[in-house]
Amino acid sequence: MDVGSGFSAPAMIWKENYKHLKIFCINLNYKQLFFSKKLLKYNKYLRCSYDIYDICLINSTSLNLPFIDQSIDVIISLESAQHFKPFSNFIDQSFNILKNNGLLVIAVPVINPSFANSFLGKVNKLFKLGIISLTWTSEHYFLDELIEVLKDNRFNVVDVKKIGSSVYDPLSDYYISHRKEIKKKIIKQYGFVIEQILYRSIKKMNNLSKNKIIDYVIIKAIKE
Ligand SMILES: C[S@@+](CC[C@H](N)C(=O)[O-])C[C@H]1O[C@@H](n2cnc3c(N)ncnc32)[C@H](O)[C@@H]1O
Repeated sequence: MDVGSGFSAPAMIWKENYKHLKIFCINLNYKQLFFSKKLLKYNKYLRCSYDIYDICLINSTSLNLPFIDQSIDVIISLESAQHFKPFSNFIDQSFNILKNNGLLVIAVPVINPSFANSFLGKVNKLFKLGIISLTWTSEHYFLDELIEVLKDNRFNVVDVKKIGSSVYDPLSDYYISHRKEIKKKIIKQYGFVIEQILYRSIKKMNNLSKNKIIDYVIIKAIKE
C-alpha cells in the first residue's frame, strides 16, 4: 500500500520490478488519482486479474484507511506523511491494517534533534527556519517526535537513514545552476515575487541542510 501516492509513479516502478504485487494507491486528491488512472492505463498497468486490479486506486484519507484489520503486508509513504495531521492517526490506522510482522516505511522531511534541543528550537522552530517556513507548508516534525509516535503505537523502529544530503543538496544545486530556465517558467505561471521567494527559500534550504538543522529520513518500522 502506497499512502499519499501522488501520480502513482512509485507503484509503476514497483510493479515493473515485482510483477506479482497487488498495490493499493491511497490518495486524498481525486484529480491526481484521475490522472494516475490515465497514466496507468496508457502504460498498461491497469490489468484486471481475478476480481482485483493489480494496481488499485483508492480515494481516501490516510487518517481513516478503508481496509480490514491485519490485511496488508507493507505500507509505504513517500514524501507524504508530513501532510498527515495528526500523524498519530495515520500510524494508528497503519498498525491496525498491517499483518503481524508487517512493514511500515516512511520517507519524510524532518528537523534534527540537535536543533530541537537547542534554545531556539524550543522557543520557536519557525524563527530559525526563516523564509523556508513560507514554502515548506506542511508540518515541521522533529525526528524524535515521529519515532516517539511510532513507539507509542507499538511499532519497532528497526532503521532510520538520514538522506538529507542526497535530497536537499542536489535539489538546490539544480535550481541554482538552472535558475535562468526555471525562473522563466515560474514567473510565467506565478509571477516575479513568488520566484524571488522560492529562490531565497531554496538557498536557505541548502544552508539549513548543510548545517544539519533540517534532514530527510527514511524510517523503517515493524509491527510486532
Ligand atoms: C508530495 S506528494 C508525494 C507523492 C508520491 N508519494 C511520490 O513520491 O511521488 C504528497 C501526496 O500526499 C497526498 N496527501 C496529502 N494528504 C493526504 C492525506 N491526509 N491522505 C491521503 N493522501 C494525502 C497528496 O494528495 C499527494 O498526492
